[in-house]
Amino acid sequence: MFLLFKKLTPFFLEHKKRYGWAIFAMLIGNGLVLIPPFIVGQVIDGIYLDKLTDSLLMKQVLLFVFSIVVSYGIEIFWGYQLFGGKNVLTRQLRKQLMNHFLKMRSIFYRKFRTGDLMARATNDLDAISEMAGYGIMIAMDSTAFFGVILLTMFLTVSWKLTLACILPLPILGYLLKVLGDKVHIRYKESQDAFAEINDEVLESVEGIRVIRAYGRQEAMSAQFDEKTTNVLQKNISVAKINSAFQPLIKITLGISYVLAFGLGAIMVSKNEITIGQLVAFQVYLSMLVWPIQSIGELINLLQQGNASMDRVMEVLNTDDQMGHTGEKDILENGTITFKEVTFSYPDSKQLSLKKINLEIPKNTTLGIVGKTGSGKTTLVRQLLKEYPRGKGLISIGGVPIDAVKPDQLSSKFGYVPQEHILFSGTIRDNISFGRKDASEKEINEALHLANFDRDINKMPNGLDTQIGEKGISLSGGQKQRIAIARALIKNSAILILDDSLSAVDAETEKNIITNLKKYRNNKTTLIITHRLSSVYHAKQIIVMDNGAIIERGTHTELMDKKGWYEKQFIRQQLKEEE
Ligand SMILES: Nc1ncnc2c1ncn2[C@@H]1O[C@H](COP(=O)(O)OP(=O)(O)OP(=O)(O)O)[C@@H](O)[C@H]1O
Ligand SMILES: [Mg+2]
Repeated sequence: MFLLFKKLTPFFLEHKKRYGWAIFAMLIGNGLVLIPPFIVGQVIDGIYLDKLTDSLLMKQVLLFVFSIVVSYGIEIFWGYQLFGGKNVLTRQLRKQLMNHFLKMRSIFYRKFRTGDLMARATNDLDAISEMAGYGIMIAMDSTAFFGVILLTMFLTVSWKLTLACILPLPILGYLLKVLGDKVHIRYKESQDAFAEINDEVLESVEGIRVIRAYGRQEAMSAQFDEKTTNVLQKNISVAKINSAFQPLIKITLGISYVLAFGLGAIMVSKNEITIGQLVAFQVYLSMLVWPIQSIGELINLLQQGNASMDRVMEVLNTDDQMGHTGEKDILENGTITFKEVTFSYPDSKQLSLKKINLEIPKNTTLGIVGKTGSGKTTLVRQLLKEYPRGKGLISIGGVPIDAVKPDQLSSKFGYVPQEHILFSGTIRDNISFGRKDASEKEINEALHLANFDRDINKMPNGLDTQIGEKGISLSGGQKQRIAIARALIKNSAILILDDSLSAVDAETEKNIITNLKKYRNNKTTLIITHRLSSVYHAKQIIVMDNGAIIERGTHTELMDKKGWYEKQFIRQQLKEEE
């Protein structure tokens, strides 16, 4: 439990004013609560000894009412401070998580699946929020209340009687700790299981069309059933421990009551305390029921919050090993150089890039071709630093990319990845994604370059047509061309198209390539493709195979070499003529 407070200390320190006031108000409030039983004791003794006058009774009643009203006001004040704090903490963690997600690259996303991350950003944050609000409230309030009452019993009645009554408490404390540790472990397991379910739901909804097409609904449902049963079992195992808390506490309290009655009666008979004191003691003891009972709930909340905190911290402390540090600015328009670049994906034994040596002079077009799986995408991923860098050197305009400021690389490139990603929203939103200030004219120009003019005229609301989640209402080729337009409008010095024309017909492809040639004649463009006609015009073409460059040159040079390129080119031409 102390570990938990250690984890939250930075937050408490940051908001020390808020928590300081809350604790202060709570202590005062708890002090005020003591007045009513004290008055009851005084009045009883007054009646018993026949000393109670009307004015004295009036005074006592007024004091009684006053203390109740003031403690009510104080309770509202600290409740507000504390529950406000819980919301601030949740928001802070949520923001931290989102910022972390935005910064992280591939390795991080290989470790955490989407559903899992979502569970951590929602369910676990809820548990933390409960802990930081309700949990901390019970912790502070019950401890302060317990301490103040105990002290009062100690000072105003009898220290002997008080000690006797709290004798069973240390044993209770030990048992509660054992149970609390179990809650921590089991709750974490149940949250892990929940994350798994979350992931499955997400994947099933996303893949629903494939699931239906293969008639796998029932199998998926059975698989899901198994997982929900697993979560249920994990939750029941948490509930089992939870239900053990209260009986334990009740037994302990019962023992305390018996001790108080027995010993108290003896002490009254020996005149060590008055009857009024014994009655007040019983009232105090009954007041202890709440803080002791709430300890069970408290341990539960704190341990659940603690387990969730561990899960959130695990995400925040996981780095993508990219070393987001460099300090140099990228030279936008420089020669790109690969020197002896060798790379294999983390956890993979095979080399995906082997001793790549390549120079892409500024303002030229490079064509990258080769069999599927030959390393084309991997090559540009290394340039974009999407994965930790392998061996060898990559530089742009003489500046090694490892020395470049984080995020500058990707922000300076125009990049259309092989799996294009569109966002729900309008066509306009998607195209102006990287350049919010783009004018209508620029958007239309980008659409024209991506050969989308005819399509846009057919859209019900033109640029303002909603394209649905991930562009669900568009055809494959339309999605690709919007992704191209989005990259083109950035007008970056370096543009990378990874198999970006695979879903368009030959004529559309030809139009786009012609536009690109004209529009980007004084900029660097890298085109990865399976259709060799797309790179026919390139200043340099490389052919990749099994992670290495096996041929390079212009189209004519490669045709003369009579290697893979020539064979492939002729084959594709014959196909087109068919
Ligand atoms: N994230 C990854 N983790 C591990 N191995 C990978 C990963 N991505 C690709 N690979 C492997 O690296 C090799 C090169 O893949 P790459 O994606 O670069 O091929 P490609 O030339 O782009 O193929 P395609 O034309 O099909 O897009 C392949 O053997 C592939 O299995
Ligand atoms: Mg690829």
